[in-house]
Amino acid sequence: MFTLAHLSDPHLAPLPKPRWSELIGKRITGYINWQRKRRFIHDPAVLGQLVADMKAQAPDHIAVTGDIANIALPAEFRRGRDWLESLGSARDVSFVPGNHDVYVRDAAAYVTRQWQAQMADDDGIAGFPFLRRRGPLALIGLSSGVPTAPFLATGLLGSKQLAGLAAVLNHLKSENLFRVVMIHHPPVSVAAGHKLLLDAKVLLRVIAEHGADLVIHGHDHIHMLTRLNGPNGSRVPSVGVPSASAVPGKDKDGAAYHLYRIDGSPGAWRCELVSRGIDANGAVVEQKRMMLSVPSP
Ligand SMILES: [Fe+2]
Repeated sequence: MFTLAHLSDPHLAPLPKPRWSELIGKRITGYINWQRKRRFIHDPAVLGQLVADMKAQAPDHIAVTGDIANIALPAEFRRGRDWLESLGSARDVSFVPGNHDVYVRDAAAYVTRQWQAQMADDDGIAGFPFLRRRGPLALIGLSSGVPTAPFLATGLLGSKQLAGLAAVLNHLKSENLFRVVMIHHPPVSVAAGHKLLLDAKVLLRVIAEHGADLVIHGHDHIHMLTRLNGPNGSRVPSVGVPSASAVPGKDKDGAAYHLYRIDGSPGAWRCELVSRGIDANGAVVEQKRMMLSVPSP
């Protein structure tokens, strides 16, 4: 039995005090949005509670699918590094960036500099897609975070990364591992157009051709479960988790994280999903438990 924990969109708070010189371009609108709305949603105490509960479950590996930062201030990356390291060793924690991490053009360099250890592949090399083999799992990390104009939260993988994904998924078929794709943006979403993954259609085609056993994502800050087409009529579960710091009772789902308990063998994998989240009284409780039907080759 291998237990994978998944959390996303911690949006670490409070926001470090920006210098005036840092409030340029998209950071200005993001800063106003934070002050007016988002700071009342993302609570570090809630995040701390959720992480403590997750650690008590002693997962074998932790996947974080983006949006540690809010407006990509340099100080947010240093703090993000401390937070990632507080979860566990870089070997046991995998991270893919979200749109709030790559919020402005120079943010990609900060992501690489501060969070490289959690994005490095088995050879220690950072880049996307990365591949990390852990127990029966192959964790494949994608980066859909790209800088966009103000008020846009779209994502993009790009043709090079998608070709790399197809090659990795294809290559892994012979290794009989449980293939987990990590991505910030959902492959399928009913959210408004300004939040969507722009090349989702190509991603869906790659998964339909080469398959995967599970896709995990964040971004929409709500519980989501969709089934993507895989090869030979199979269906690939794609599961989204709410923000790990969201105060319950606001417009999106309250903070939650997921545990995947995976056992079995190739062709007969079993995957149980346990959702644990914060309730109206501020306690972290089990919200849902279900067996996910995963594809068999
Ligand atoms: Fe987010």
